[in-house]
Amino acid sequence: MSRLTTYLSTRVRRLVLARAGRNGIDLTKLDRVPESLSWPLQRNGVDPVERLEELCGREPVAKLTSFLGMNVWLVTGQAEAKQVLADTTGYSNDIRPLVGRSGSTTDGDIGGLGFTDPPDHTRLRRLLTPEFTMRRLERLRPRIASIVEGQLDELDRLGGAGGGDGGDGTVDLVQSFAFPVPFLVICDLLGLPDEDRDTFRELGSARFDVSTGGTGVFGAVSGSRTFLMEATRRQRTDPGPGLIGQIIREHGDEINDFDLAGLADGVFTGGLETSASMLALGTAVLLDHRQDYRAMGGEDPAVVERTVEELLRYLSVVQIAFPRFPLRDLQVGGHTVRKGDVVVCHLAGANRDARTGEAMDRFDATRQSVSHLAFGHGFHRCVGAELARMELRAAFPALARRFPDLSLATDRLDYRDRSIVYGVESLPVRLRQPEPALR
Ligand code: HEM
Repeated sequence: MSRLTTYLSTRVRRLVLARAGRNGIDLTKLDRVPESLSWPLQRNGVDPVERLEELCGREPVAKLTSFLGMNVWLVTGQAEAKQVLADTTGYSNDIRPLVGRSGSTTDGDIGGLGFTDPPDHTRLRRLLTPEFTMRRLERLRPRIASIVEGQLDELDRLGGAGGGDGGDGTVDLVQSFAFPVPFLVICDLLGLPDEDRDTFRELGSARFDVSTGGTGVFGAVSGSRTFLMEATRRQRTDPGPGLIGQIIREHGDEINDFDLAGLADGVFTGGLETSASMLALGTAVLLDHRQDYRAMGGEDPAVVERTVEELLRYLSVVQIAFPRFPLRDLQVGGHTVRKGDVVVCHLAGANRDARTGEAMDRFDATRQSVSHLAFGHGFHRCVGAELARMELRAAFPALARRFPDLSLATDRLDYRDRSIVYGVESLPVRLRQPEPALR
């Protein structure tokens, strides 16, 4: 998942532009959605803005605005968000209402689990879930550990004596750790041959490049889809060792290339930026809570699990769920949301809902089993949640063990502005304390 614009692949974009044009709005000039719609994505550092906290306390379901003639509702209460996300018959994830009814899953680029409703969603998700059972994921565990160690070596090499991006021993943790770890894990998971990885990496990096605005991001999205379509076609005749090949071997006659490439692209989009943001922002938070950072490097897996869960809740890097479209008039939080409206569940808000526990606005690694919506809820809940946990539970402790004195090399982080997946473009760090100067 990425910013709202990346939900919309090339064909959808064309349809949205046409529809917006009819309403006198030039979306090509928008690389951000309007303020009335986008302010809930704003943050104050890692915290939601005050306005959002107030709204959650006052009105956990509130009418946000009207956009392109639709009422947009914002759900910030945890119980109310769960009610919406768990409703299998009341809401649709199909984005076509936003773009007119002419979009089609077969002739266009719309696809992937996130946009698909039952029964198609059930059929496609059933093909994907076996690849994410703990038994299959176990096979990735040693590989994840070696990818993490490889990137730590890379950091060490870059930040060694006299090294570093600026020659002063500082390195960018995003570039050399937070991004490559999930990227390499996904390449293994999908079963992409080594020779394809450089091209794929460029497509992945392009998604991070905000300098190109919406258009560049769209390009990268359709690029990865096209790339995966070709990979899928090749694997039809020669199935590889990963997820794409496995689905072809076991269920090849139940799925066409378009849908399979859509599933693979959903895994790529869903699993790269999210985990990378968690690794970067999670490190920044841990460095602000040194004791918890050090404790991550200890031997207690319960501490690691608890801290990772709290980071997931506290950071809620996927700020909002995919928009839900009511299929009929429905009651939620004392309001009636009507067919034709859009309902947006604010996961970052719901994860700090004051009704769910003590001091939810604070990071507290000792917090006991708190339920959170960082992976969503219900039948669209993140299929890669256990894989993401495996990555985070491997990466943070290994980082803390290798570089116990890691510190931020800046006092101002450059947070992404109003993006659905919250994060930083770079995280300059010093790997070790500077040597004391010789007298
Ligand atoms: C810390 C990392 C991650 C976070 C915070 C995260 C968050 C989420 C959330 C909130 C949703 C639900 C959205 C909704 O209901 O509208 C979701 C769905 C999804 N995620 Fe993740 N995700 C993460 C990692 C991954 C990974 C590693 C993968 C795959 C390798 C993945 C693949 C997916 C897919 C395919 C969906 C769509 C599921 C469906 O619609 O049935 N995610 N993710």
